[in-house]
Amino acid sequence: MEMRFYALDREGRLRVLKDHASLTDDELKTLREGSGIDFKMADSMVENAVSFISYPLGIATHFLVNGKEYLVPMAIEEPSVIAAASKGAKIARLRGGFRASSDPSIMIGQVQVKDVKNLEKAIEEVMKSKDELISIANSKSSLARKGAGAKDLRCRAIDTARGRMLIVELLVDVKDAMGANVVNTMCESIASRVESITDGKVLLRILSNYATYRLVRASARFAREEVGDDAVEGILDAYAFAEADVYRCVTHNKGVMNGIIAVALATAQDTRAIEAGAHAYACRNGRYSPLTHWSKDSNGDLVGSIELPLAVGIVGGLTSTHPLARLSLKILGVGSAQELACIMASVGLAQNFSALHALVREGIQAGHMRLHARKVAMLAGAEGNLLDEVAERLAREGNITVEHARQIINEIKV
Ligand code: MEV
Repeated sequence: MEMRFYALDREGRLRVLKDHASLTDDELKTLREGSGIDFKMADSMVENAVSFISYPLGIATHFLVNGKEYLVPMAIEEPSVIAAASKGAKIARLRGGFRASSDPSIMIGQVQVKDVKNLEKAIEEVMKSKDELISIANSKSSLARKGAGAKDLRCRAIDTARGRMLIVELLVDVKDAMGANVVNTMCESIASRVESITDGKVLLRILSNYATYRLVRASARFAREEVGDDAVEGILDAYAFAEADVYRCVTHNKGVMNGIIAVALATAQDTRAIEAGAHAYACRNGRYSPLTHWSKDSNGDLVGSIELPLAVGIVGGLTSTHPLARLSLKILGVGSAQELACIMASVGLAQNFSALHALVREGIQAGHMRLHARKVAMLAGAEGNLLDEVAERLAREGNITVEHARQIINEIKV
């Protein structure tokens, strides 16, 4: 999809979305109004509601993931992020775009059992009753009828500051949901039976946000002729810096999460769960590490990959009820939570590529300034080709004010 989406006005962009995702007139109206939720809905969602807060919703372009074209809605307040994701995707597609895969949607639910007198015996008894416990859990949801639901159960004995404890873990295939509600319900449903089997006391019954059975992976090649040989080396040096130094690594991963969380917000995911899981995964080898990996192939192309847990859903919760989240999912055209996860991982990788590419070349501020100059030129009334010319001069001359933009417009028009 070769297009200059950014150069279109709002109506032009909406027309592209309409054609791409067969949006109805009502859906276009929703996008025009930016009407996410009304106060009644806000009031029913949280306590002490007084209002609601909005973010810009933009579209990242050029994403080719597993051979399929995507326009990617991103909700974010930070300038340059959507442009950077699109730029990374544009370069990646020169070598075929992103290859991505996602594990099935297995979530872990934890039941904490304390005061167990004979832990080894209790574990043996719980494992003997595994099928019974799984069927109690499955009686609480329709997932099992769809071939999903609680699939397995395991026990772990852990040493804590308050003595040994037994942790009974349910492994639940939540299919296209994020899964928190169903997993929590299942954990609660088995609690009393677990108590009677173990002769212990159940305390917490809650899902784990460390979704290590729900990993997603994406990779892409970034053509050396586009990246530049010096920048390829620079990105490898930047990556080595992140691997070796936690202060840099947190910022490296923050750049990755700029993309992932923007798509998560646009589709009304639980962003805190995603962040918590991602950063724990970054520590899986005992030290905080980059979520992405960078190397160079024999052709001199830059090769990037990413792996992280992503508990995201396309059904249930706000994803199904928030009008703009539903529209974002329609624009994405995803048929499963796994497909959504593949896109999000690809966006994270593209985002990281573009941040590093900018950092090793002109620095991050130049791009911000160019975008700022465009906004100022627009405010001064510049449109179409004039907009590009005015923005370029504002940035070059380093005087980015509406007044100066008006002067330039007048000069050009004379
Ligand atoms: C800014 O939001 C993100 C970056 O700091 C990421 C990075 O430094 O890699 C540019």
